[in-house]
Amino acid sequence: MEKDEALRQIKNEVVALSVSPLYAERVKHKYFPVIGEGNHNAEVMFIGEAPGENEAKTGRPFCGRAGKVLDMLLEFVGIARKDVYVTNIVKDRPPANRDPSPEEIEIYAPFLDRQIEIIKPKAVATLGRFSMVYVMNHYGLEWEVGPISVLHGQIFQTSNFKLIPLYHPAAAIYNQHLLDTLKEDFKILKTLI
Ligand code: URA
Repeated sequence: MEKDEALRQIKNEVVALSVSPLYAERVKHKYFPVIGEGNHNAEVMFIGEAPGENEAKTGRPFCGRAGKVLDMLLEFVGIARKDVYVTNIVKDRPPANRDPSPEEIEIYAPFLDRQIEIIKPKAVATLGRFSMVYVMNHYGLEWEVGPISVLHGQIFQTSNFKLIPLYHPAAAIYNQHLLDTLKEDFKILKTLI
């Protein structure tokens, strides 16, 4: 199956995913699931946590305030957003931006795994703790899992891609120090492509 077709198939399955506890919220608020967006041949794939309100209203990942920070960081290192692929582990919005539950992660993560397998990025950049822990546990780095304050900006090799855990851009909205750290880590990410 072609990449576009395989990704479209994932979209169709997530749209129909009524077993998710977040599906009722989607229907109630007329939200969209947020599947992912970008280049299907991207060398870098960014993985966030779950859609916020702006994302659920539009169906586009990282299009709100955290997305503005992400855009700024990409521009800072000269990577075009159209060249990367951006997605989340959880594809529907948890109410009131609460953390995704382990059950929700378990329901949606197989779609993320398939997206990684189809796109085959050289580098995966996780944004925040949830996606970092999931990707490390799932791709053979379970012994390396630790606090994001220690692991951010480090490069880990999996059998398929290089992983670089990054802080979540939302954490840098009111924190200049974290923003500076993210800028340094984006320079490291740039060396992977
Ligand atoms: N935060 C996330 O983790 N993902 C988004 O798409 C938006 C905000």
